[in-house]
Amino acid sequence: MSVATDERTELCGIELEHPVINASGTFDALAARRAFGDAAWERFPFSAFVSKTITLEPRAGNPPPRLFEAAAGMVNSIGLPNKGLEGFAASDLHELGELPVPLIVSVMATSREAFAEMIGTLADRDEVAGFELNVSCPNVKSGLIVGAEPSETESLVESLRPLSAKPLIVKLTPNVADPAPIAAAAERGGADAISLINTIAAAPWSAGSRSEPWLGAGSGGLSGPSVREVALHAVHRVGAAVGLPVVGMGGIETGRHAADLLAAGAGVVAVGTASFRDPAAGLRIRDELRRFGGTARASGDPHR
Ligand SMILES: Cc1cc2nc3c(=O)[nH]c(=O)nc-3n(C[C@H](O)[C@H](O)[C@H](O)COP(=O)(O)O)c2cc1C
Repeated sequence: MSVATDERTELCGIELEHPVINASGTFDALAARRAFGDAAWERFPFSAFVSKTITLEPRAGNPPPRLFEAAAGMVNSIGLPNKGLEGFAASDLHELGELPVPLIVSVMATSREAFAEMIGTLADRDEVAGFELNVSCPNVKSGLIVGAEPSETESLVESLRPLSAKPLIVKLTPNVADPAPIAAAAERGGADAISLINTIAAAPWSAGSRSEPWLGAGSGGLSGPSVREVALHAVHRVGAAVGLPVVGMGGIETGRHAADLLAAGAGVVAVGTASFRDPAAGLRIRDELRRFGGTARASGDPHR
């Protein structure tokens, strides 16, 4: 398929065919290839692939149940199951390097040293175009959620900055009073871009016989259509507070929703929960976005 030149964009030096990427943890490129064959990669739904968040050590993830269908979206408590840095670097990374789009690796750790080991190990791998730092996690030393404290965020990014010349995208949690000061702190630390929103803390409850939290882990994160206006607000505030590009996500299901997030201040958008219903949602959303001229503010019925 030919691509209109004006769809092309870039994200802190990473060239993109169009402004629609995936949200970490919501599209498994390797599983898509196994299930649908090479065709799934030839018409890859996104202009970059953001990996599922990896951690230094392998993780089994949270006990089931892990997913709850909410009124408009889902609550997940997957718990970051992954092979760990070594497993990822030894197997998945090689195959992901064959993707037709740039690869952004999402990393999370509970200490600066573990973050540094992951970035240091992957910094020189040709397969990697950039990193997303998932900072919705506690620092075991301070006990503070890194992405909820400007000083924690700034010093983490500052310590990682010298380890790689590749772009560092800092992914923010919406579970704070205002994400703008956190984004500004990431910018001071040397971040190249901000992405948001991660999921909103939520706990479905089960009355009756169990009378306990519904999810195995007790609580999880809400995503999908119900978080869309929270994402618009957060992206707008962050876009106004920093000079960095913003990757906007949260509840995008149509090109219209993507256009609205771009109009609110995002330079690139990411599709998450919508890919669970339709793994090709990214392709449709990109096509629909064309009708809005990519970044032009959509007009008309706001609920369309
Ligand atoms: C099942 C599931 C798994 C997710 N895993 C991750 C993850 O590994 N790392 C991360 O940064 N965000 C993760 N997220 C959050 C998404 O990347 C995204 O920030 C959030 O879901 C909002 O976008 P959406 O409403 O379009 O889904 C996950 C979300 C879901 C629903």
